Amino acid sequence: MRRIAQETINRVLEEVDILDAISQYVDLKKRGQNYFGLSPFRSETKPSFSVAPDKNMWYDFGSGQGGNVVQFLIEYEKISFPEAIRSLAEKYGIEIIELGDQEQNNLYDQLYEIHELACIYFENNVQTKPGNKATTYLKDRDFDTNIINKFRVGFAQDSWDSLLKEVKGKFDNDILKKSGLFSESKKGPLIDRFRNRIMFPFFSLSGKIIGFSGRSLSEKEDVKYLNSPETLLFEKSKIFYGSYQTLPNIRKQNFAILVEGQTDFLRLVEQGFDNVLATSGTAFSSKHAIALKKYTNRVILCYDSDNAGINAAIRTSYVLLQHGIETRVLYLGNGDDPDDFFKKDSTTKEDFRTLIKTAAHPISFIIRHKDILSQGAADQSKFLNECIGEIQLVPDVMIRNDLIRKLSNALGVVEAEIFDRFSSLKQKRYNVSNEEDTSTTAATHYNSSADKAQLELIKLALHSPQLATKMPIALFTNKLLHNVLKVLIDNSDKEYNPGQILELIRGSSEERNLIASLAIEVPAKEYEATILNDCIATLEREPIKKDIAGLRDQIRRLEEEDSIPDKALLEELSALQKKLQ
Ligand code: UTP
Ligand code: MN
Repeated sequence: MRRIAQETINRVLEEVDILDAISQYVDLKKRGQNYFGLSPFRSETKPSFSVAPDKNMWYDFGSGQGGNVVQFLIEYEKISFPEAIRSLAEKYGIEIIELGDQEQNNLYDQLYEIHELACIYFENNVQTKPGNKATTYLKDRDFDTNIINKFRVGFAQDSWDSLLKEVKGKFDNDILKKSGLFSESKKGPLIDRFRNRIMFPFFSLSGKIIGFSGRSLSEKEDVKYLNSPETLLFEKSKIFYGSYQTLPNIRKQNFAILVEGQTDFLRLVEQGFDNVLATSGTAFSSKHAIALKKYTNRVILCYDSDNAGINAAIRTSYVLLQHGIETRVLYLGNGDDPDDFFKKDSTTKEDFRTLIKTAAHPISFIIRHKDILSQGAADQSKFLNECIGEIQLVPDVMIRNDLIRKLSNALGVVEAEIFDRFSSLKQKRYNVSNEEDTSTTAATHYNSSADKAQLELIKLALHSPQLATKMPIALFTNKLLHNVLKVLIDNSDKEYNPGQILELIRGSSEERNLIASLAIEVPAKEYEATILNDCIATLEREPIKKDIAGLRDQIRRLEEEDSIPDKALLEELSALQKKLQ
């Protein structure tokens, strides 16, 4: 992976609005100066997760965890620091400046380049003679020219090496192999992976080509759709077909229509339903849900209405619900997929709109399509347990309760019975973890008055950075707090927010949590001066107290030896004691 410039990290921490970023995962309500919501990391009923927008900090009072917006993403999405920075930068339109490792840079650049060349080549093929049958096919299937152009649909010739010839002299063998566009075969070292196929390119979120899916034109071919293999650019488990073009619409309309493949996708876009995404042959994964959630928390599933599609829709519903995404299932009927649906003369856009509006709740969908109500009690009970097993994994209390209510109504089982099973199954599954815990904040480990004074001062400095320079750093005996103050003083002219300061400190997670807990508490402005003076006074007394203790020790030892302490010693002691008063 290439390294990201400090400059980019800084911009992310300065420009990304933590409230906006976290609001996409947590429902936050204003209380005082901060915002509160239910912790996305634990299951809880009383909101103890807070965000301080002006500090660019969050803090979870229940678990004692906290940090800036980047750490939130790292914790929530279980991704690395560079991934978090990249994702925020992309989302908030911040240019990512990368450093060093020329070779790596080169590798990525070349992989993008070879994909772009391949895409252009496939596009051009449609216009030329060998592409005639592709043109005919696309026409027969009623693909609109505008759509073909916008999504850069192309054609791979029925040849072993036409793409290979096109790109050969331009790239090393290593790049050709890493691109996933070629396979190794007996006929020669490398052959074109995609042959005699309509080519659908996948775009990265910045619009670069990263892989392809090819639909076979030959009925004999047993793989109908062949995709690029997993490569450095193409991570199947989190890619949607068409996301580059439709994510902005999804964000605007605040819901996404999810379909199975590219033909359904393109048909819906053509019909004006441009907030659509396709998973394209891969099962819908957790990573898909996480990626989607950045744009919307509402999904309408519109899979094929055959048996495979129904089962896939049920599996996907659970994954979506478990990620806090409100889900509905649209059922087209007749075994149709969206492409089939619009091919019929009898159906209109209005019909589809009605289907969207009346799409079923996942629980109703499952019960209807698995015909649960006509089963016997034993099977219904088994079904109920299976559902509960899935519902347990839904962290959002509201969604969970809604599912339980729906189950209760549909099956005619009282909610209490479901909750009963819920808790007994839950104990089996989780044992001790996951319950609301009441662990205290990291700050309570600081016991002595000197430690407490240093804590208070750091809290003050995080809220009013200009005060940092007035604090006696030499008296900061706590190593961590000393370090924090040093960074604050060193950067006092830069107007960094605490979230940025956190990044400069680069402390352990324990240190981060502590700082987040300090940043989230709001000291009363009117007492700032008093707190500052009192705490400094406390710290200034510390060395005196130490000296006094030393003198007393000396005097006691002298007395033990029956010698009389020096007068000067006693005077020194009384002078020091006076200072303390
Ligand atoms: P379908 O078989 O429903 O494809 O698979 P379709 O879109 O209706 O295909 P057409 O209309 O015959 O062209 C749904 C999706 O699953 C993926 C593709 O993305 C496809 O669009 N798929 C299907 C594969 O990846 N590989 C396959 O062999 C088949
Ligand atoms: Mn289909």
